[in-house]
Amino acid sequence: MSISINNADDIAKMRIAGKLASEVLDYITSFVVKGVTTDKLDSLCHDYIVNVQEAIPAPLNYAPDGHTPYPKSICTSVNHQICHGVPGEKVLKNGDVVNLDITVIKDGYHGDTSRMFHVGEVSIQAKRLSEITYRAMWIGIKQVKPGATLGDVGHAIQTFTEKNGFSVVREFCGHGIGKNFHEDPQVLHYGKPNSGVKLKDGMIFTIEPMINAGKRDIKHMPDGWTVVTKDRSLSAQWEHTLLVTSTGFEVLTVSAGTPAAPELP
Ligand code: MF3
Ligand code: CO
Ligand code: CO
Repeated sequence: MSISINNADDIAKMRIAGKLASEVLDYITSFVVKGVTTDKLDSLCHDYIVNVQEAIPAPLNYAPDGHTPYPKSICTSVNHQICHGVPGEKVLKNGDVVNLDITVIKDGYHGDTSRMFHVGEVSIQAKRLSEITYRAMWIGIKQVKPGATLGDVGHAIQTFTEKNGFSVVREFCGHGIGKNFHEDPQVLHYGKPNSGVKLKDGMIFTIEPMINAGKRDIKHMPDGWTVVTKDRSLSAQWEHTLLVTSTGFEVLTVSAGTPAAPELP
C-alpha cells in the first residue's frame, strides 16, 4: 500500500469527518460519570452519530485480518485497559480513568480521535499519566512538517515519555487515514530521529500514543479485542487526526470542546 496525498476536496471532507468525531466526544462528556455503564456510553454515541450526525460509527463490525468483527460503535478503555476496550456491563466508579475512542465515517471519509475522562476524584498518579500522555501526543504533533520524518515524531514521544518514568506501548501505532480507517503509513510512538517515512504536504495520519504507568508489555483479552497492561498498571491514550500542511500541521479533529494545546518548552 502507498501513502495517499490528499487533494483540496479530500481535505475538505476530512475536516468535516474530523470535526464530527470530536463533536461526539463533546456530546458524551457529560454522561461520563459514576454509575454509567460503558454499554450506555456506546449506545448514546451510536445514536448520536447515526441519528444526529447522519454518519457511520466506523468500529461497528470492523473486521481487519485476524479479528472477529468489532461488536460495538466506540472503544471504552478503562484503567489498565490500553485500547480497543469493548463496551459492556462494566459500571464506571469514582476514581476510574477511561479513554473514549471515536471514529466516524462521513461522505466516505474517516475522522478518528480519543480523549481521557476522569470519573469523580482520581489518583494523583492517574492525573499525571493522563497529563503526560496528552503532552506526549502534542510533542509528537509539533514535529509534523514537510521534510520531517515519522522517526522524529516517534523519538520525540518516546524520549519525553521515558524521561517522565512511563513506558510506550509498541504493538499499536497511529496510522494513515482517509477513505480507509487504517492505511499506510504506520505511525510508531517510538523511534530514531531522521529515520522512516519523510512527511509531505497532503498526508493525513493519526498520532495516538498509548502510555503505561508501569511496564510496556501488553496482554490480549479473550474477547479478541480488549488489550490490557500485563502488569495491570494504568494506561492512558489521546488521539488526533493530522494533516501535513506546507508550513507544518493542521489538527483535523477539532470542535468546540477540544482541549487546548499545552504550553510546551
Ligand atoms: N479507533 C482505533 C484507532 O485509533 C481503532 C479501533 S478499531 C476497533 O485506530 F475496531 F476496535 F474499533
Ligand atoms: Co486511530
Ligand atoms: Co481511534
